[in-house]
Amino acid sequence: MRDRRRARELAAEFHRRGDPTGWFEALYREAEEGKSTIPWADYHPTPHLVGFWIQHPQQTAGKSALVVGSGLGDDAEQLAAYGFRTTAFDISETAIRGTRKRFPNSKVAYHAADLLNPPASWCGRFDFVFEANTLQVLPAALRPQATKNIAAFLRPGGLLLVIARHREPSDPEGQMPWPLTRAEISAFTAHGLKEVLFDILPDVSEPDVRRFRVLFHRP
Ligand SMILES: C[S@@+](CC[C@H](N)C(=O)[O-])C[C@H]1O[C@@H](n2cnc3c(N)ncnc32)[C@H](O)[C@@H]1O
Repeated sequence: MRDRRRARELAAEFHRRGDPTGWFEALYREAEEGKSTIPWADYHPTPHLVGFWIQHPQQTAGKSALVVGSGLGDDAEQLAAYGFRTTAFDISETAIRGTRKRFPNSKVAYHAADLLNPPASWCGRFDFVFEANTLQVLPAALRPQATKNIAAFLRPGGLLLVIARHREPSDPEGQMPWPLTRAEISAFTAHGLKEVLFDILPDVSEPDVRRFRVLFHRP
């Protein structure tokens, strides 16, 4: 069982202060100082990304990928190993610094950046965008802007792979990380994307969790 107590405490404290994304940096700093742990840090690529690739290998030669909320970098390194020219970003400067330390010879371009206000130069630039578990740690009111910005990263012909905790609309919202409904995942289609693959899969490490794994295409 992952220990999310400190993450939830910090999230609640920063929400009260009107800074709903400030707690990520605070948590990564505490972790760097050995005072907390990062509940989502697995130190290996997301199994639902690796599983997707086994079932649906993609052409990567000459193509670019972007990883949203890259955490400690394992998924970005995996996409670079698949052959993409890879960019990855996280809102936490400490996470980005820690990632660069973990992968000193990385080919990935890591940036500290905010999904809610990303660099304009990333708009329409990427062939493959990977988002795992970031939408679900943002409060519901911020998800529509985050969804719109993620969709905008894709160039025509590009693919977006999204992984997120699943709940039925009748289930309670629960605590952070808030599981998403199908309607929240399908919101990408309001920004010009078409859903091409849709799965709800059991989680490898948490048997009571089910996750969406959804692939979108920008025509
Ligand atoms: C739950 S973690 C998931 C990390 C990784 N994607 C994974 O699946 O293991 C969410 C990550 O998104 C980052 N994040 C949260 N809000 C963000 C934002 N507005 N812009 C960029 N990154 C953000 C956090 O710092 C954290 O590293």
